[in-house]
Amino acid sequence: MALAIRLYKESDRERIRRICYETGYMGESVAWYWKDPESFADMFISYYTDKEPESFLVAVDDKDEVVGYLSGCVDSTKADDPVAIGAKIAFLNLGLLRPSIAPTMWRAIRDAIFDLVLSAQTPPKPFNDSRWPSHLHIDLLGDARGKGVGTKLMDEWFKMLRQVGSPGCFLETLDENKSAIAFFESVGFSRHKKCDPVPGIRTPQGARLHRQIMVRSI
Ligand SMILES: CC(C)(COP(=O)(O)OP(=O)(O)OC[C@H]1O[C@@H](n2cnc3c(N)ncnc32)[C@H](O)[C@@H]1OP(=O)(O)O)[C@@H](O)C(=O)NCCC(=O)NCCS
Repeated sequence: MALAIRLYKESDRERIRRICYETGYMGESVAWYWKDPESFADMFISYYTDKEPESFLVAVDDKDEVVGYLSGCVDSTKADDPVAIGAKIAFLNLGLLRPSIAPTMWRAIRDAIFDLVLSAQTPPKPFNDSRWPSHLHIDLLGDARGKGVGTKLMDEWFKMLRQVGSPGCFLETLDENKSAIAFFESVGFSRHKKCDPVPGIRTPQGARLHRQIMVRSI
């Protein structure tokens, strides 16, 4: 499969939203804990396709079909907060009553209360540090992995950041996503601060997962 990198086009949007859903749990589908693809994509990808498409890179196959993406944001203070979108889905769109997503939403509330009461730990806040003002997400379909495509997407992203004069970028991953952490280290990121528990998402066996921030100067 010959793969190329190009900028996002509006006609890629639906496929990208699907890839976001099908890779959202450490490269696997999130369908087992979030049975509503649209609200998942609204939380995690809409900002990047709809408000900052000029920072959105895609990897495409020889039919120009998207097989993965790097969704970037140059100034993270402008990005939508997925937690705020999630709260809107929970309360305004009655997500807390919808069987497709309610169990995970209620678990997020229970986890957040548990963390606060037992360890005085507030839920993870959006990361904000002027040394690393930009951020990204990256996801490839399974067949596109392990072939250097992620590295190529990153190289293009770093080039874009140099052109606009950004001093650095960060990303959020899960401490449990060991292959992603190895990949991010291979392209120059390092772990920043200790990781903190994420309310709501768990392993299929029910274990808690932990947010890891990683940073890289440009
Ligand atoms: C993480 C991801 C973007 C990496 O892209 P990729 O194209 O597969 O990675 P590359 O082929 O460019 O690998 C570059 C280096 O990263 C490291 N790496 C990549 N995949 C790895 C894995 N599964 N295990 C350990 N190290 C890995 C290696 O050092 C590799 O260098 P090498 O090929 O010389 O050994 C991709 O595998 C992916 O989309 N995974 C699932 C979704 C995901 O977890 N996204 C991150 C969420 S925060």
